[in-house]
Amino acid sequence: MSLHEQGFGQSVNIAAQDSEIAYAKINLALHVRARRDDGYHDLESLFAFAEDGDRLDGHVTDDGRITLQVSGPFAASLDPGEGNLVMKAAKALQARLGESRGAALHLAKKLPLASGIGGGSADAAAALRLLVRLWDAKVAPSALEDMALAIGSDVPACLDSRTRLVRGRGEKLEDREVPGLAGLPLLLVNPGVALSTGRVFAGWDGVDRGPLGADDLARLCEEGRNDLEAAAMAVAPAICDVLDALSRWDGRRLSRMSGSGATCFALFDTGEQRQAAASGLRIDHPGWWIMETRIRTA
Ligand code: C5P
Repeated sequence: MSLHEQGFGQSVNIAAQDSEIAYAKINLALHVRARRDDGYHDLESLFAFAEDGDRLDGHVTDDGRITLQVSGPFAASLDPGEGNLVMKAAKALQARLGESRGAALHLAKKLPLASGIGGGSADAAAALRLLVRLWDAKVAPSALEDMALAIGSDVPACLDSRTRLVRGRGEKLEDREVPGLAGLPLLLVNPGVALSTGRVFAGWDGVDRGPLGADDLARLCEEGRNDLEAAAMAVAPAICDVLDALSRWDGRRLSRMSGSGATCFALFDTGEQRQAAASGLRIDHPGWWIMETRIRTA
């Protein structure tokens, strides 16, 4: 896509600019089944995505360099350098393709860091999608998934951000149709605590509490769990306060912690009920981060 700026009868070509939303991820349920020898855990998790997230913009450059600027409410705590997952993803793709062109990227960081909703993973996946498009690259989906997994366990599922049953370390993906889920009003709440995923997994008690039945929303609500909740609460007791506060609102179908925390989510029957909960929580807990959104329809 080429953009044209028009003024005084002139048409000026500027570099093709494009963007991707890095959709926030939630784990509707996260069952930890086993600790593995390689330092990871085998999971069964139903991933769903919000309509909102960070936003990645970019355009192609001729000098071969990849640059990243970050803005937005959580920009200050994010390293825009080589350790950033967007940079890692962009450089891995560039090397794999032997691409001589570069890219100037800009990330608007709306999601809190280290918060269990896949911000960094979604950003990396958005970078892969954006650059495949901008560089007009031909990459097999399996090669892209391998690249994604090398960046982080949640990145493959974030590539197309659809509702999925995710198993293994995060690499085994199965499409799941959960009737009634798409479009449901969703509230994300974080008490302002950043948690290390590795630290929370290390606190898992090692008890396999059983598999995940993932096709039916009612069953998912009743029988689904997040097996990392206890370990995360031991590090961040404020998670208990969030879950307690979310449980009080009318029309709530489900509330649970997402990923390794500390963000918790609630699904509501109607947008009005979600809005009432969000307004009440903002008054009672002005320090909490709260996002009103919906389950992405993909
Ligand atoms: O893959 P990623 O770098 O996102 O994982 C961060 C850490 O979370 C890992 O080093 C590991 O300690 C833990 N983890 C895990 N089992 C998973 C995913 C992550 O133990 N399935």
